[in-house]
Amino acid sequence: MKPELQLISLLEPIRSEIEQVEHLLYETLARVEEPLQSMLCPLTDGGKRCRPALVILGGRMFAPFGSPFRILAAAVEMLHTATLIHDDLVDKADLRRGQKTLHTIWPVGATVLAGDYLLARSVSMIAGLEDCRLVKIFAETLCTLCAGEIREMCVTEGKHRSREEYYLSVEAKTASLFAAAMEMAGILAGAEEGHVATLGRYGRELGMAFQIVDDVLDFTGDEEKLGKPAGSDLRQGLVTLPTLCYLEQATDDVAVNAVLSGQWDEEHMRAAIEAVCSSGAIEASLAEARAHAMRAQEALAGLPDNASRGMLYSLAEFVVERGY
Ligand code: IPE
Ligand code: IPE
Ligand code: MG
Ligand code: MG
Repeated sequence: MKPELQLISLLEPIRSEIEQVEHLLYETLARVEEPLQSMLCPLTDGGKRCRPALVILGGRMFAPFGSPFRILAAAVEMLHTATLIHDDLVDKADLRRGQKTLHTIWPVGATVLAGDYLLARSVSMIAGLEDCRLVKIFAETLCTLCAGEIREMCVTEGKHRSREEYYLSVEAKTASLFAAAMEMAGILAGAEEGHVATLGRYGRELGMAFQIVDDVLDFTGDEEKLGKPAGSDLRQGLVTLPTLCYLEQATDDVAVNAVLSGQWDEEHMRAAIEAVCSSGAIEASLAEARAHAMRAQEALAGLPDNASRGMLYSLAEFVVERGY
């Protein structure tokens, strides 16, 4: 039995649509041969389902929800899940959506291939929609995501990255998929080109805010609530916005620089996290996230005024509030 879908309350009005997407995801993976099925089915539980919600809301703004939107939303969530499998391997994370990550259970080769399988299945689902433009956007987004993740890995080795480099990475690894989900929903719904571009702008700004807040939660959140390890960015030597803001005011900081130069023992880690959290860096980062969320909300002004638009507006608020 699948556990009941946990949704943030603002998505309750589209619970039925999200459940249909869940059902399609589960049904698709339940048909896969073993041991892939046992690897992949548990991964369908526990996500926030933000990206399927974007597809549903972006589409519903212009057309009734139906099978093509279900397929698009499931494919986007599948692609996202595949990138999480690969990301957790790269980041050496041992927990995701409250469960042990694949690479902690299965050989690395099988983990990579399971992620590849999900990527291929998601592309196949998009191809089934028989719209070359959707296939192109989907594939280009995957290219952007992969390049973004690789750039972040390589920058990590060079330690201190600039704000500009940080933003490029966030845009590539996260905002690109949020933007694509919205654009593809608009195209599938037959929205006019100006509206498709506006949906994309909303998605991109929302995605920027989302990742910045995710980076804040890596400092302020706890593993139990997040369902994934906290403090992992610093531990990897990865400089995200809170650390950038902190180091701008405290260039000679001992604790943070010790961790960034590889001293990952618990004492140094605790001191570094404490130093960042007790400075103004968290608030400064959240202010940047809020600015992106506001730009997302401003973009909505160019779209038809209906219930879906209202929910997208609230979603931009939620994305920042979850960081407090
Ligand atoms: C995690 O995304 C990866 C990031 C882009 C930060 P989510 O926070 O949406 O993960 P799930 O889908 O809810 O597990
Ligand atoms: C998120 O990467 C983006 C992708 C999965 C492509 P992160 O490494 O920042 O996300 P979390 O914190 O592991 O979810
Ligand atoms: Mg990660
Ligand atoms: Mg990562």
